[in-house]
Amino acid sequence: MTVESVKPHTPGTPGVPAASALREPPLAGGAVPVLGHGLRLVRDPLAFMSGLREHGDVVRLRLGPKTVYAVTTPALTGALALSPDFKIDGPLWESLEGLLGKEGVATANGPRHRRQRRTIQPAFRLDAIPGYGPVMEEEAHALTERWRPGETIDCTSESFRVAVRIAARCLLRGDYMDERAERLSVDLATVFRGMYRRMVIPLGPLYRLPFPANREFNRALADLHLLVDEIVAERRASGQKPNDLLTALLEAKDDNGDPIGEQEIHDQVVAILTPGSETVASTIMWLLQVLAEHPEHAEKVRTEVESVTGGRPVGFEHVRSLTHTNNVVVEAMRLRPAVWILTRRAVTDTTLGDYRIPAGADIVYSPYAIQRDGRSYARHLDFDPDRWLPERAKEVPKYAMSPFSVGNRKCPSDHFSMTQLSLITAAISAKYRFEQVGGSDDTTRVGITLRPQNLLLRAMPW
Ligand code: HEM
Repeated sequence: MTVESVKPHTPGTPGVPAASALREPPLAGGAVPVLGHGLRLVRDPLAFMSGLREHGDVVRLRLGPKTVYAVTTPALTGALALSPDFKIDGPLWESLEGLLGKEGVATANGPRHRRQRRTIQPAFRLDAIPGYGPVMEEEAHALTERWRPGETIDCTSESFRVAVRIAARCLLRGDYMDERAERLSVDLATVFRGMYRRMVIPLGPLYRLPFPANREFNRALADLHLLVDEIVAERRASGQKPNDLLTALLEAKDDNGDPIGEQEIHDQVVAILTPGSETVASTIMWLLQVLAEHPEHAEKVRTEVESVTGGRPVGFEHVRSLTHTNNVVVEAMRLRPAVWILTRRAVTDTTLGDYRIPAGADIVYSPYAIQRDGRSYARHLDFDPDRWLPERAKEVPKYAMSPFSVGNRKCPSDHFSMTQLSLITAAISAKYRFEQVGGSDDTTRVGITLRPQNLLLRAMPW
């Protein structure tokens, strides 16, 4: 399937259905009076989203009084992500903006978004990644050195810690980042916990009451914003301009050639650190879970690392040769995508496939549902890293595995993330095998990202 063959139709052009042939998407089954599909979506969002393709390629959902459109096929999710008729907007994004700021790249649209992407992109380009190699190596090995053989590892805090440290040390360089990265990781873990609750259960004023959970959330959010201000102020005061993302942001100009405002600099740093921490941290937790659940793959990763490195500490230069390790990472991301739901809003009356989509419609789709669909993957629920070997990967339909999305909102950090995830997986597997301990709960916790509820592992030397 090519991008062209799934492009949204423009009625009136040759070979494209006339407007009269376009249909309204069917209503998904299971709606109940008043609440529509809302209850099922809240009760078990993953099962609900995964069942929608039964009802159509695009289906209508009723969430209380509101109609939302869900896209269920890989081809049409690609079409959605690539079409200029849809933008980032809707309730999910509005609540994010309220907490994290309105002027960052993740929520901007149009010319501002294009300009912001041009500013940040060089820091994430493939040729910039080797520059981050030493920090990624150091952090991956520091993780294994912190763990004592036989000791129980709290995978949530450990994963957050390493993800935030790598993002902060690589992108906002500076020695002072060591101590700041520690504070950032504690703040971000707290903020993400509370943010999802505020997004799905918008109780407004109740979140302002002085309950301990609200106080903790507000303190962490305030400290996150304070930290970002400190980082910016200290860099300015140092007079240094290392070749990093922070320098690019401080030197950025707006469309008139004037320096961008303080608020935009602040919101940009927040908008890069926040998606950069929870996503990577959640994926590391799933990788640890996979290594514990599939000792045969853990052993295969260890053997591969040993043969590629000759027994030396694994480094950035080895990552490209670690085929099985990389495939373990990709397969873990297929079954447990950190970003499990994405939304868009139609900016004009438009189409998806043969369906009519009205201007202003909110659209939703789930990479989780797409990446676990039996129509796209044989033995779709099996953990099978070898499905990513080149001869088998060819069989995967286009857009059936796009954990970083495609199009103009594609995650800028795909190379950056994949490199650190493979390096961390290799470093920890070379030293330890893992077992779950009593009290560990590896069931899926649905939040802004998907991650295990409370993964506790024992690290055992080989
Ligand atoms: C956007 C996934 C790591 C920064 C996105 C999007 C996805 C994604 C799916 C697109 C959202 C949409 O279409 O609405 C992931 C995954 C990651 C990861 C799976 C790791 C496993 C990171 C890291 C950073 C980062 C490490 C930065 C350090 C961003 C930014 C955007 C974004 C700034 C917004 C881009 C835009 O709107 O133009 N990410 N991400 N991500 N990601 Fe990531």
